[in-house]
Amino acid sequence: MRDNIAGKVVVITGASSGLGAATARHLAEHGARLVLGARRLERLKSLAWDINLPPNAVLRTDVTSPDQVQNLINTAINLHGRIDVLINNAGIMPHSLLEQARLDDWNRAIDINLKGVLHGIAAAIEPMKQQKSGHIINVSSVAGHKVRPGSAVYAATKAAVLMLSEGLRQEVKAYNIRTTVLSPGAVQSELPQSVTDPNMASAIADFYENYAIPADSFARAVAFAINQPDDVDINEIQFRPTRQDF
Ligand SMILES: NC(=O)c1ccc[n+]([C@@H]2O[C@H](COP(=O)([O-])OP(=O)(O)OC[C@H]3O[C@@H](n4cnc5c(N)ncnc54)[C@H](OP(=O)(O)O)[C@@H]3O)[C@@H](O)[C@H]2O)c1
Repeated sequence: MRDNIAGKVVVITGASSGLGAATARHLAEHGARLVLGARRLERLKSLAWDINLPPNAVLRTDVTSPDQVQNLINTAINLHGRIDVLINNAGIMPHSLLEQARLDDWNRAIDINLKGVLHGIAAAIEPMKQQKSGHIINVSSVAGHKVRPGSAVYAATKAAVLMLSEGLRQEVKAYNIRTTVLSPGAVQSELPQSVTDPNMASAIADFYENYAIPADSFARAVAFAINQPDDVDINEIQFRPTRQDF
């Protein structure tokens, strides 16, 4: 297949660890021009050094701030004159039982996992419309398809991302903008560290220890979607470890 990644300007939120960082490394190998955001700037700088990105291609970006996300998108356009792909990847997974009423966790999950994605869409859609091309990739989860005790709020944010992505697809096809939503199962990353309930944290750490597959799996799925010819829109990819049953 003709390589449709090389030269593309790709913005990734939550690129400082896990799936976002692995995707940055993978797309860099394919010749993408990357602009990376996350809150931990030192992590981004070290990643930029590893993959030969200029220092001004990484930005401290908190996705709960619409202005900071807009600034990230503007940086890509200022540096490269366009934005081809936005990967709304930043997320947390603070699992707990609803009866614990961990309101701070609930609000952070909604602010980052759902509003963060909306902030990305709000910032990228106009320049992509003007270009008459673009690709918005949102990150949901198998938890967006199936809920279990302890995952209700996380699953609700990820189900919302699924629905949002389908609505986005229908609205932006007229502008030649592609949309993809990815729903991974357990993948090795720092995500289990976002669980604040100690009992839940140890159960999830054990599960990830036993089941999670390398973050490259996600990076390859992203690359597959981007690499399709322009008239092919991969709308949804769900994948999980072969051993994961739910
Ligand atoms: N790993 C899995 O098993 C799995 C499965 C399904 C879906 N996912 C989804 O995959 C995405 C990436 O997660 P991961 O597994 O790679 O976990 P991770 O290693 O913890 O990475 C999460 C990333 O999100 C960033 N982030 C968190 N809060 C942020 C904020 N307010 N503003 C900007 N960035 C923020 C973190 O960077 P900073 O802390 O530096 O800001 C980090 O780079 C998430 O949406 C997650 O829900 C993961």
